[in-house]
Amino acid sequence: MSGCSGPQSALQPAGVDAEQIARLFWWMGGFLILIWVLVIGCAVFVTYIRPRPHDSRAARWLILGGGVILPPVVLGVLLVFGLSLLPSLSAPAEDGLQISVSGERWWWRVQYPTPSGDTVELANEVRLPVGERVGFRLTSPDVIHSFWIPSLGGKVDMIPGRTTRLYLEPTKVGVFRGACAEFCGTSHALMNFRVVVMEPDAFDTWLERQASPAQPPQGELARRGQEAFIANGCGACHTIRGTSADGVLGPDLTHVGSRLSLGAGTLPTDTEAFERWIRHPDAIKPGVNMPAFGMLPAAQLSAIAAYLSELK
Ligand code: CUA
Repeated sequence: MSGCSGPQSALQPAGVDAEQIARLFWWMGGFLILIWVLVIGCAVFVTYIRPRPHDSRAARWLILGGGVILPPVVLGVLLVFGLSLLPSLSAPAEDGLQISVSGERWWWRVQYPTPSGDTVELANEVRLPVGERVGFRLTSPDVIHSFWIPSLGGKVDMIPGRTTRLYLEPTKVGVFRGACAEFCGTSHALMNFRVVVMEPDAFDTWLERQASPAQPPQGELARRGQEAFIANGCGACHTIRGTSADGVLGPDLTHVGSRLSLGAGTLPTDTEAFERWIRHPDAIKPGVNMPAFGMLPAAQLSAIAAYLSELK
């Protein structure tokens, strides 16, 4: 019953498409209950209420009615109803915002077009303006993942070598949870993301901020953190725009401190969590590509953590 509400529930829709899916679910549920009552009612009737010796004429009618006529009628009605939802569920939004998301083991690479025509890369967080129909281009460089935000709509597989499309139209401001819905390896269950639906103005401000380069480190600790980040080669895998770190294997960290979660939904983004993650990411997310840096001196670890959590 925990799936009936909360930030990741298809039964508490917060988007146009999720509302239709929920409606279909309730109609199918209603039909199922109706059929169950009918079948069990017949069984009770012939077993307890009017048990009779075998009557071949009644049996013929039951088989004809209940076995041949009823199923196609019920399934036909549900099929027509389900198909009638399809055109609006796949209604494109070619002129709206187009976001590219790549599912990678085990995190999400998210790319937004900026007003200036560039692309800005983020990770593990999707922000959307409320009331706008948004398009997603979904890809994967490794194995099949599946992109799913139950509160907003249906799920779509991310298939290596192909680009699949999904369109969503959030109707409520709030924070929701998305997840990978296709088993993709050891840490499949730890491949989540936050979805923040915002007022359009707040969204524009946020995107503008994300497109800007990282702020220079504030204070001595963060400055030493940035130095240690570069000196230990973190920039070979991670980009921090505005510094010499420009690796593309791992998540872009330019504004990592502004995100709601670290490690694709596994940790908060406070200094302690950053330190834990850098020290031994494999203990938090088994199989993760990032190597452990527990061998670094404790002072360097906490400086890097302070620097990263400051990148808002
Ligand atoms: Cu990615 Cu499961």
